[in-house]
Amino acid sequence: MEGSILITGGTGYIGSHTSLKLLNAGYEIIILDNLSNSCLEVKDRIKKLANKGFQFINGDIRNTNQLKSIFKDKKINAVIHFAGLKAVADSAIYPLEYYENNVVGSLNLFKEMASANIKSLVFSSSATVYGNPGMPICKENTPLNPVNVYGKTKLIIEDILRNIKKADPEWRIINLRYFNPVGAHPSGMIGEDPKGTPNNLMPLISQIAIGRRKKLLVFGDNYNTPDGTGRRDYIHIEDVANAHVASLEKILKGDVLHMDINLGTGKPYSVLEVIKTFESVSLKKIPYEITKRRAGDLAEYYADPSLAKNILNWKAKFDLRKMCLDSWNWQSKNPSGFIN
Ligand code: NAD
Ligand code: UFG
Repeated sequence: MEGSILITGGTGYIGSHTSLKLLNAGYEIIILDNLSNSCLEVKDRIKKLANKGFQFINGDIRNTNQLKSIFKDKKINAVIHFAGLKAVADSAIYPLEYYENNVVGSLNLFKEMASANIKSLVFSSSATVYGNPGMPICKENTPLNPVNVYGKTKLIIEDILRNIKKADPEWRIINLRYFNPVGAHPSGMIGEDPKGTPNNLMPLISQIAIGRRKKLLVFGDNYNTPDGTGRRDYIHIEDVANAHVASLEKILKGDVLHMDINLGTGKPYSVLEVIKTFESVSLKKIPYEITKRRAGDLAEYYADPSLAKNILNWKAKFDLRKMCLDSWNWQSKNPSGFIN
């Protein structure tokens, strides 16, 4: 196929794994990333792993002129849109930055896509759009009611996409709602490398195991779950990346569609189960202390992943053990994460 796939946020955690899969699948890609939450070194690691080059543009989706010139100069067949800010707690402190970066940035991108007549898109949404769904299992038609600013930015973007599709049926849009992506590429060359203190469980555990942090605070053990700690639908990053390739293939085939699709395994694990499994694969002790619940946390939620199976013919392959193994492989080979 002549032309490239534009990947916004392609040097980030999910974008880097997906970019590698796309290169391996034979696609030409162009990554656009402002490096606000990733490192330039990621680009070289992807190239090395894929044994294939691609173009990297250090740029910003909020920069309309830059987007215009990219769409004018390059032949782009579709866009996978990862770029965005994603820290729930920060989104409450910096709402303007979150709305500007996520909503205004996405709006710019969609406007320039429409002007350039590029109407194929895979978008990174989040299970956080379900908010507090009232029951643990989330289906795509579960009512959407995000409870944090980050989630609200995702819902606004989803709504914009629903409106675009309604006004112009030529658009093909797959909106992926990720549950809890964890793990790393099995080579240990790319992985999750949060800047500053991690917000999420798996990078915290990995950094404790490598000696960068002392202990984990477990946020509550009195939830209505089998061991009292919160349960989540962790999904291996390689499974997440594969689902993007499947989504892209679907929209490039010409199916005119607009789909919201959950990406999860459908099987939740508790905080204590994650700790135990990580300890068993790393042979490292993870010291932890039970503390009070974190504001805004739910006891448990997980995906109904059946739509992804039906539409994309995709199903998560990897279990918690493999997620922990690859997280540890990445962390132990890169104790300080990416250097540059
Ligand atoms: P990430 O922060 O690792 O990657 C996002 C990338 O986008 C970064 O490289 C960052 O530098 C870039 N970026 C941010 N704002 C930009 C802008 N204005 N212009 C250009 N580049 C910009 O995050 P991730 O975990 O890879 O997440 C990717 C997407 O998936 C995000 O939209 C996130 O909200 C969504 N998501 C992530 C998770 C998760 O747990 N990781 C869960 C649900 C949804
Ligand atoms: N947890 C702890 N201690 C910590 C960190 C987390 O006990 O230091 C627990 C949480 O209470 C929760 C589980 O580990 O039970 C997972 O927490 P994460 O922060 O890793 O993940 P969340 O499910 O809370 O949030 C993630 C993303 C959000 C996204 C949300 C929706 O971080 O961006 O999933 O799917 F919005």
